[in-house]
Amino acid sequence: MCGIVGYIGAQDASEVLVEGLKTLEYRGYDSAGVAILAEGGLDRRRAEGKLRNLSKRLKEAPLAGTLGIGHTRWATHGKPNETNAHPHRAGGVAVVHNGIIENYAALRQELQADGAVFTSETDTEVVAHLVSHFRAQGLDLQASVAASIERLEGAYAIAVVDEAYPDEFIAARESSPLILALGDDENLVASDLPAVLAHTRKVVFLQDGDLVRVTRGEAQIFAEGALVERPVKRVDWSPAAAQKGGYKHFMLKEIFEQPRAVTDTLTGRLGRGGEVHLEHFDLEALKGIQHISLVACGTSWHAALVGRDLIESIAGIPVSVEYAHEYRYRRHIFGPGDAVIGISQSGETADTLAALGEVKARGVRVGAITNVMESAVARLSGDSLGVIYTHAGPEIGVASTKAFTTQMVSLHLLAVGIGRTLGTLTVEEATAELEALRHLPHWMEQALEGASQVAELAPWASEFDNYLFLGRGNLFPVALEGALKLKEISYIHAEGYAAGEMKHGPIALITEHFPTVALVGSDDLKAKVVSNIEELKARGGPVLIVASEGDEDLARIADQLVLVPEVPERLQPVIYSLPMQLLAYHVADFLGTDVDQPRNLAKSVTVE
Ligand code: M6R
Repeated sequence: MCGIVGYIGAQDASEVLVEGLKTLEYRGYDSAGVAILAEGGLDRRRAEGKLRNLSKRLKEAPLAGTLGIGHTRWATHGKPNETNAHPHRAGGVAVVHNGIIENYAALRQELQADGAVFTSETDTEVVAHLVSHFRAQGLDLQASVAASIERLEGAYAIAVVDEAYPDEFIAARESSPLILALGDDENLVASDLPAVLAHTRKVVFLQDGDLVRVTRGEAQIFAEGALVERPVKRVDWSPAAAQKGGYKHFMLKEIFEQPRAVTDTLTGRLGRGGEVHLEHFDLEALKGIQHISLVACGTSWHAALVGRDLIESIAGIPVSVEYAHEYRYRRHIFGPGDAVIGISQSGETADTLAALGEVKARGVRVGAITNVMESAVARLSGDSLGVIYTHAGPEIGVASTKAFTTQMVSLHLLAVGIGRTLGTLTVEEATAELEALRHLPHWMEQALEGASQVAELAPWASEFDNYLFLGRGNLFPVALEGALKLKEISYIHAEGYAAGEMKHGPIALITEHFPTVALVGSDDLKAKVVSNIEELKARGGPVLIVASEGDEDLARIADQLVLVPEVPERLQPVIYSLPMQLLAYHVADFLGTDVDQPRNLAKSVTVE
C-alpha cells in the first residue's frame, strides 16, 4: 500500500519527507520519490526500490526547499520502476496518489486527444494532467484540484503542488485514508499517523470528499466547496503503535482491513451488464477451455478449493485443485482445452512458481492470481493468460488473512468472467453475482462487528490442546483454513475435516476435552451438519458453532455460538472466514505467542 507525505514549513522538505516515508515502510513499497518546490521551480527525484536509493539520489543532486510532497509506491498499474514512481508531473504540477482511479483509461484517452503526453503506465498521471489542464484554463490551484477530482471515479488520496504556488499545497481524499497534521508554523498531510508524529500530535482525520488547502500557518478544509470544521484530535500513540493503526498486532489490523481490501479487489472490475474487467488477464484466451487446474500452497490452496466450487457452479467448467509441491512432480496428460492458474499471495512461492513453469514449458496456458505486482508468478504468466491482482495491499502478519479473502473474491470475479466469455452464464445471472459482490464489503463489516464477541471466548478456547474444525460444501475449505490459522499462530493442534467425513474416523477422538468448531451455513447442507453436531454432543464433545443470523436456536446444541450475517451462499466462505481468523488471533494473543511472526514460519516460502 502506497504512502503519502506532504510538508510545508521551515525545515528542509526533502529530509522531512524521506523521514516521514521511512515510518511508512511497513506498508510495503517498491519505489519512492519526492517533488520539492525550490526557488528555481519544481523538481523531483525518484528511485526504484528502497528509500535508501532515493536518499542516494538526493545526496547526489539535492533539492533545497521547504515545501514538497513524497510517496512510496506499491505498484498497481504499471511496473515497479522509476518511470512509474510518484510524484507524477504535468507542466508545473506534481501529484502523489494512493488508491485506484477506475476511469483512468478513458481520462487518459481524453487528455491525450487534447495534446497531453503521458510518460508512465500509471493511473495517477491522469490526475497531474487533469490539474494542469484546468490550470491552463485559468483556474487557480485549489479550483483546478476540485475540478479534477470531480472527474475521478474510484479511490484516492492525493497531494498536489504547483510551481506557481510556493506557499501552499492541496490535498484531497475519497475512500483512501489521509490525515492532516497541524504543527507550529508547519503543516503536513500523510496517509498514516507514523509519518507525522515527529512533528506534532495534533491531527485531523480527513473525511471522504474533503479537500484541504495547506499553508505554513494554517489549513482550510472544504467539503462540497464550502469551508468546514473538522475535529482536531490529540494522538498519544507511540510510532510503533501508530504503524499498527492502534491495533496490538498487524494481523488484527489486517483482519479489520478486509472490507477495504475487498473493495479494492472489486474496484474497476464490476462492469455494467454482468461484465467483468480483469485488466491484466486475458479472458478471451480462455475460449475453448475444457478444464482448469488451480495450483497453490497453504492458505492459497484453501482459496483454490473455494474457487473450484465457484468456477464449476458459475462457469460450468471442471476444475482440479492441486498442491503445487505435488503437482510439479506428477506426470500430467494435457489436452488443448487445459489451463493452469497459480494462486500465490506473495507470487514468490518456489513450489507454485516451479509448477507453473513446468506446465508453461509444455505449451499449456498459465495464469496467476497474486497480490504482488511483477512478482515471479506474475512475470511468468504475463505473456500467457495474464494475472489477476488481488489488490489486498501488503500483508505483514505471517498468517494470511486479507490475502485469503481477496483471493476468494478474485476467483469469484474470474468465475463470472469465464461464464460470460464462454456464454455459460446469462447476463442476468452474471449481474446478480456482481451485485452480491458489490454488497460484500458491507456484510464483512457487519460480520467483523458481530464477531467481536470472539475475543471473550479466548480464555475458554485456550484451555484445549486439540481442535477439530468441520464444514461442508463451500465451508469445508474454511474449516481447513480455520484449523491452519489456529495451529500457525497459537500452536494448538487443529485439523479441518469435511463434516461428512467425521463418522469415518475422527469421531473416535471426541471426548469432553476435544472441542469442535462447526461451521453451519444457511444452505441445503445445514441439516446434515446439525446432525453431525448432535453426534458430537452425544459423545460429550464441546462445540463452538458459527452460524448465520436467524439460526439462534442452534444455541441448544452449542457450548458457544457465534453468528454472522446471512449472505448469498457463494459469499459464505468470505464471511465465515472472519470469525475463524479472530478466533485464532484471540487465542494466540491470550496465550502470548508471537502473533505476527510465529515460530518456524516465513511470510514467503522461496525454497522447496
Ligand atoms: O505466498 P503464497 O500464497 O504462495 O503462500 C502460500 C503459503 O505459504 C501461505 O499461504 C501460508 O500457508 C500462510 N502462512 C498461511 O497463513
